[in-house]
Amino acid sequence: MLDHRDGMYFPTEDIVRHAHADRAKYDAMYKQSIEDPEGFWGEHGKRIDWIKPYTKVKNTSFAPGNIDIRWYEDGTLNVAANCVDRHLATRGDQTAIIWEPDDPNAEAQHISYNQLASHVGKFANVLKDMGVEKGDRVVIYLPMIPQAAFAMLACARIGAIHSIVFAGFSPDALAARVNQCGAKVVITADEAPRGGRNTPLKTNADKAFGKVEGDVKMLVVKRTGGDVPMEAGRDHWLHEMEAGVEDACPPEEMGAEDPLFILYTSGSTGQPKGVVHTSGGYLVYASMTHQYVFDYHDGDIFWCTADVGWVTGHSYIVYGPLANGATTIMFEGVPTYPDAGRFWEVCDKHKVNQFYTAPTAIRALMGKGPEFVDKYDLSSLKVLGTVGEPINPEAWDWYHKHVGHQNVPIVDTWWQTETGGHLLTSLPGAIPTKPGSATLPFFGVQPVILEPQTGEEITTTEAEGVLCIKDSWPAQMRTVWGDHERFEKTYFADYKNYYFSGDGCRRDADGYYWITGRVDDVINVSGHRMGTAEVESALVAHEAVAEAAVVGYPHKIKGQGIYAYVTLMGGVEPSDELRKELETWVRSEIGPIAKPDLLQFAPGLPKTRSGKIMRRILRKIAENDYGALGDTSTLAEPEVVDDLIENRMNRG
Ligand code: WTA
Repeated sequence: MLDHRDGMYFPTEDIVRHAHADRAKYDAMYKQSIEDPEGFWGEHGKRIDWIKPYTKVKNTSFAPGNIDIRWYEDGTLNVAANCVDRHLATRGDQTAIIWEPDDPNAEAQHISYNQLASHVGKFANVLKDMGVEKGDRVVIYLPMIPQAAFAMLACARIGAIHSIVFAGFSPDALAARVNQCGAKVVITADEAPRGGRNTPLKTNADKAFGKVEGDVKMLVVKRTGGDVPMEAGRDHWLHEMEAGVEDACPPEEMGAEDPLFILYTSGSTGQPKGVVHTSGGYLVYASMTHQYVFDYHDGDIFWCTADVGWVTGHSYIVYGPLANGATTIMFEGVPTYPDAGRFWEVCDKHKVNQFYTAPTAIRALMGKGPEFVDKYDLSSLKVLGTVGEPINPEAWDWYHKHVGHQNVPIVDTWWQTETGGHLLTSLPGAIPTKPGSATLPFFGVQPVILEPQTGEEITTTEAEGVLCIKDSWPAQMRTVWGDHERFEKTYFADYKNYYFSGDGCRRDADGYYWITGRVDDVINVSGHRMGTAEVESALVAHEAVAEAAVVGYPHKIKGQGIYAYVTLMGGVEPSDELRKELETWVRSEIGPIAKPDLLQFAPGLPKTRSGKIMRRILRKIAENDYGALGDTSTLAEPEVVDDLIENRMNRG
């Protein structure tokens, strides 16, 4: 049992003895990583294979007007060769990927590194036959099937840049991303089974292609065998294309700073940004965090329940684990199908050693009762992890007791699409945990807390403010695709010479970090980032809507829910039907994750005399905390607030 004292949980001696790092080693390595980043990352960069070794390690600048981030810049490598070929001599027959399908009665697949090599090689040759060359973009719109990993690695093998669009996104969202990155090929599947239901993925892609510009081809994976129309000349079946190609495809020699992937993510303004990650530094960091943070050892079975459509899936289902020669699980289903025991059934069945999920999933399962988890044998578990949002104490306790049986360290990992890998986290054998805190920085990471208004660094141990990072780490995003200025404006303009995370944070007397949530107009719904501006622009695109404002509010399962205030066009009457129509509209514009949980029709929105919407007031009303609205004297029409309060949707 983990020792529990002074609000902290300590690893047992046994855990410490077997861990890659104990406290003394963490302290020494952290110290070196900060005092001598060149030496530290120069040494740890060797954990991956280079074609041409680097001679330069770090060349990074956060200086205003010159945001320039390069790691290992004169080295060359191939990421797919690191994730596949490099393991063939030593572990060719070891399972690389265990695929657990949606249907619990269908057989799981075990794909060895040898088999992975031939799948990736073939897939790469198919892409080449379709005209994909080094530097071209390929959009992947796939369910959680092994072909998603093959596709990623095939792109990496030939030097194409992949951009995965979560399969839950709508045709419009897909089209926008295909156009924004100028993709040559979109890879999709006939249908995506999830939770016992099939999403018509190919049909969605067809709809998207109505808005896709230029000559873009489609490559279709047969997943269910469902009947889907194929457009001659444009659409190709993967299995047909693969019939004529060889297994072997030589890996392209890539510069360390050549882009590996683009991943679109929501920000506080405008359209999603294409976050660009490059090859060398990203892989070093993803593999190193995977090893240390999950205390991964050879032969362990690792399971990250995220979708490859999010950064967590990129770094901790595919690149980190495979670079380490791990066995990684890909799960096609959902935690509650066929019942709330599915996660634990899969842990038991595959003897999972490290399990990594989001607090929202824990809360959802917790609500179904302990009987779904208690009947499974979870004794194989050695490390549990969480990601995506702060974990509340009740969910932490439940995870600790019912899943970890009070024996298993929980690592709470704070990071972002932009950071490529974990920045704040405990290490199982080194850092005692406090439920709800992401604890301490990973090697090479220098978190600072700034006073939000002045931008001054708060140097006392106890501090509260905005979380910034002082210097670069190898997996940092390099730019926004096609818009370096936006990169600087978003992350380096508010607080000069720092990377600004967008999160608020508190540091306690022990130097532990506690994330307090976003300080911008981004909300975190079930661990997924959603820009309120995106939902607003979807709403105002509807003909009945004059104006919309979207804010987050506390939601028991999702962490935050989406609360939309909508003002209708003159002559349009509010109704329950219209409310449903608008919800469906947002689903179809963006995807189910963006659907407002609560939608209030408002005769007007509270604005300042200069016309700026007072979001602070809208947030308070959405939180059902309208007694504390603060100063409303600057409002142009104070009476609209009374109406909003009277008709508020959240009365919990
Ligand atoms: C939030 C997901 C508290 C945070 C990897 C961040 C967290 C945003 C944690 C990034 C955590 C992520 N504790 N908050 N352990 N992990 N967040 O880009 O607000 O989808 O800025 O990356 O999620 O979300 P993203």
